[in-house]
Amino acid sequence: MEEINVHTSKNYKIFFSNVRDKLQNLIDEYGIKDIYLITDKNIYNLYANEFSYFKGIKGLYIINPGEENKNKDTVFDIYNDMLSKDCNRKTSIVSLGGGVVGDIAGFVASTFMRGLKFINIPTTLMAQCDSSVGGKNGFDFNGYKNIIGTFYQPEFVFVDTNFIHTISCQDYKNGLAEIIKYGFIYDDTFFDYIDANKEQIKKRNEDVISTMVYKSLKIKSDIVCMDEHDNGIRQILNFGHTIGHGIESASNFSIKHGEAVAAGMLIESYLSLKCSLLSAHEFKRLLDIINYFEMPTYFDDMNEKSIMKSMLKDKKRNDSKINFILPERIGSAIITDKLSQNTVEDILIKWVGKKLW
Ligand SMILES: NC(=O)c1ccc[n+]([C@@H]2O[C@H](COP(=O)([O-])OP(=O)(O)OC[C@H]3O[C@@H](n4cnc5c(N)ncnc54)[C@H](O)[C@@H]3O)[C@@H](O)[C@H]2O)c1
Ligand SMILES: [Zn+2]
Repeated sequence: MEEINVHTSKNYKIFFSNVRDKLQNLIDEYGIKDIYLITDKNIYNLYANEFSYFKGIKGLYIINPGEENKNKDTVFDIYNDMLSKDCNRKTSIVSLGGGVVGDIAGFVASTFMRGLKFINIPTTLMAQCDSSVGGKNGFDFNGYKNIIGTFYQPEFVFVDTNFIHTISCQDYKNGLAEIIKYGFIYDDTFFDYIDANKEQIKKRNEDVISTMVYKSLKIKSDIVCMDEHDNGIRQILNFGHTIGHGIESASNFSIKHGEAVAAGMLIESYLSLKCSLLSAHEFKRLLDIINYFEMPTYFDDMNEKSIMKSMLKDKKRNDSKINFILPERIGSAIITDKLSQNTVEDILIKWVGKKLW
């Protein structure tokens, strides 16, 4: 079984296996008992008959799918249910799901009785290549995304890429956007790999998915090991997200995260091009791959003012200037807060008018 060691305030492993019996062995090996399993309705409907590897579970909580349920009501309802099932400090929380389930389950694990053991089994491409590793968790509150949360590392993460065959096309593209991000800002050979295997990626070739997920988590864990609490280099993972979050929030979250990030990566790369950092050829490579996967690069009914407004709201939250991650070439990016609001707004006006590339 392949594995990656993650060295943070707590060391843990990411295990890769398409054999779910291995999961059973790990649960025994890690002494995980009294499991409180958190999942969502879609996963439960698809995989309920495979839940037998969780022997003797203490409780099962099934979230209604969707970002709109990543809120305090769900969290408090889980606490209530856990209390009614006599969960205690020996209980372990297992998350089986995408980023929504994982973020909620991680938060519950970190707060119930000041912290329970936590195991993450990600089931979407987004969760497998990104959210299940790094320790961030939380929920949305008062219109702010992920505003309440903690850093809390799991006992281990178990990645079975077989789950990816049942996710929707839109969710597959969402994860792909993050995967392209890793290559573009951190590893040119990985970007070349994605480019060279794009047809197989589209066909969801098992080997290619496994390689991409492994490589993405290797990059993510390397970065997280250097900067667990997001004060320095980890911020480069926000490439495409500064403007991406603005787009998501301006659309009232009707545009999915990965789609907003894909467009955000293009706009931020265009800014980099205008700052004479990124070459036109490298910008074109990013544009071509995003077009190849048919990710939307423009949206109707966008307004630059509302995108700017939500970016400034994020800025207030960080008590700083707006940080941008600008790629300087494929495989390398810088963090800067030197871009003027006018420059950004000018580019956004052109983008909203569908005249940027
Ligand atoms: N903590 C982090 O570091 C981090 C990083 C990135 C994203 N996130 C968070 O992750 C969330 C998005 O995650 P997501 O994209 O996984 O969304 P999601 O959890 O909403 O899952 C997307 C959809 O796929 C369904 N699904 C899950 N697994 C499935 C499977 N195997 N087969 C069929 N359907 C399946 C779900 O029911 C849901 O409808 C956001 O809330 C985001 O803020 C967190
Ligand atoms: Zn993201």
